[in-house]
Amino acid sequence: MNNRTIKIALAGVGSCASSFVQAVTSGRDAVIDRQPGVMYPEIGGYRLSDLECVAAFEVDANKIGCDLADALRRPPTAAVQHVHVPDTGVIVRPGPVLDGIGGRLVGVVEVDERARQATIEDVAAELRRTGAEVLVCLLPTGSVKAVQAYARACIATGTAFVNATPESVANDPDLASAFAERGIPLLGDDLRSHLGATTLHTALLDLLLGRGLAIKDTYQLNVGGNTDFLNLADPLRSATKQTSKRRALSNAGIDATDVAAGPNGYVKYLGDRKVCFLRIEAESIIGAPVSMEIRLEVEDSPNAAAVLASAVRIARVAADQGRSGVIDAVCAFLFKSPPVGMTESSGLDSFREFIAAAASHSWQDSLRAAELEIARLA
Ligand SMILES: NC(=O)c1ccc[n+]([C@@H]2O[C@H](COP(=O)([O-])OP(=O)(O)OC[C@H]3O[C@@H](n4cnc5c(N)ncnc54)[C@H](O)[C@@H]3O)[C@@H](O)[C@H]2O)c1
Repeated sequence: MNNRTIKIALAGVGSCASSFVQAVTSGRDAVIDRQPGVMYPEIGGYRLSDLECVAAFEVDANKIGCDLADALRRPPTAAVQHVHVPDTGVIVRPGPVLDGIGGRLVGVVEVDERARQATIEDVAAELRRTGAEVLVCLLPTGSVKAVQAYARACIATGTAFVNATPESVANDPDLASAFAERGIPLLGDDLRSHLGATTLHTALLDLLLGRGLAIKDTYQLNVGGNTDFLNLADPLRSATKQTSKRRALSNAGIDATDVAAGPNGYVKYLGDRKVCFLRIEAESIIGAPVSMEIRLEVEDSPNAAAVLASAVRIARVAADQGRSGVIDAVCAFLFKSPPVGMTESSGLDSFREFIAAAASHSWQDSLRAAELEIARLA
């Protein structure tokens, strides 16, 4: 570990965590660091090879006590194993279960007794022991109490928080102000997939609205076969995801109040593949109709990993720069439900500006370090 290492804790060792750790492992090779899907090989001087998982929390009896690499391959994780992850030396610890397992996950995930006893203080103690700098929250949708408990452990320990779930953390005024007051960066809520249904949908709306067309109607139906989709098949568990997807469409500039956009079914045979059926009906000059139908098929979990590869480095850059609270400049591009929403193109512009500023910051840091070194040698 060098002083550029970004120490990461994972809350939830499921499919997205598996793809993320595979991406981090592949990033150790400087050549593969330039792999497709990695938007920026370097962010503020940090490369993918600077990421290191130092802590992991779970409730699944099948995963607690295992090396992280082993736990990430265990069912019900659906992520495809593209990259072999060697043993990490990180043992998966029990986290507080709270409302983490509910609906259709009951019986699929066997909750470890130690997770029923675990507290926020236990999480905080492990974050302190390992020196974790950024916690990535990858809990199932619908587990607001558990997600917010991990956020509180981060507030207590000064750990930056990346909320991949649609549960409110960045959108919770009390939690957001606590992160701001304690000088800790917060990124959220609800990670966008790198090239998923929301991003494709909002990019197309941006295109049509930018050319002056009127959107008459649209829908975005999604099915998949991983544990996330199994969980989302329960309407009580998927409510926050539905709201989050509609919010992303509203930020794109349409009235999404009644738009059907969400998880629309669990299809076991798809495994980690997700299929989106998207339709847009629009109107051009003198009422000329335009319509399009698209079928998008992606591997779901790596799609999250590509965004996390940026989000984690941005959290650390923000901490280096003394920024705290919600990092609005990047959240609209990286998340579906940022507190400050933007259109697809404005979100991308703002994100690029942040990356460019981070690059010049790290360039100035390097220059200063070089000058100090020259002065020391003189
Ligand atoms: N797949 C994507 O591209 C994508 C995109 C955006 C957001 N997300 C969100 O990311 C989250 C994770 O998705 P996933 O596909 O990895 O889900 P998953 O079901 O594969 O993994 C979730 C893991 O969390 C564990 N868990 C449950 N309660 C816990 C607790 N209290 N403490 C610690 N661990 C707990 C579960 O046992 C499971 O292993 C979901 O909320 C999902 O909606 C995913």
